[in-house]
Amino acid sequence: MEELIKAAKKARLRAYAPYSDWQVGAALKSKEGKIYSGCNIENASYGLSMCAERVALFKAVSEGVTDFEALVLVSDREEPAAPCGACRQVLAEFALTLPVFLVNLQEKVIRTTVEELLPAVFWFKK
Ligand code: THU
Repeated sequence: MEELIKAAKKARLRAYAPYSDWQVGAALKSKEGKIYSGCNIENASYGLSMCAERVALFKAVSEGVTDFEALVLVSDREEPAAPCGACRQVLAEFALTLPVFLVNLQEKVIRTTVEELLPAVFWFKK
């Protein structure tokens, strides 16, 4: 856990958030033990901005990794922030039961899961 928190904090420092000034870091641990980190990356066209969680997840998936053990999300807030709705849906696609640890800079930790965060997940069935 310490390693994951450290990676998420490090990624957070790379956030590109000149519009919101809200920096977020994520670290996703694969079943094989590799850590994929991400930060939020904003854009002048606000809607094109990308959340830290999805950056981390897409890095992993694009490298062929789809089995995960845990996600740590770090932000600077008294009550550690939870993933946005879009990230919940995207995480659910790969890891519905994934443990998610919401952490602030003082390392207050709240444990939850993707399933708990998104109880009415949308599934596409052919
Ligand atoms: N943000 C994340 O990176 N993850 C979330 O789950 C919530 C929001 C980012 C997006 C944007 O750059 C900034 O936080 C403010 O919404």
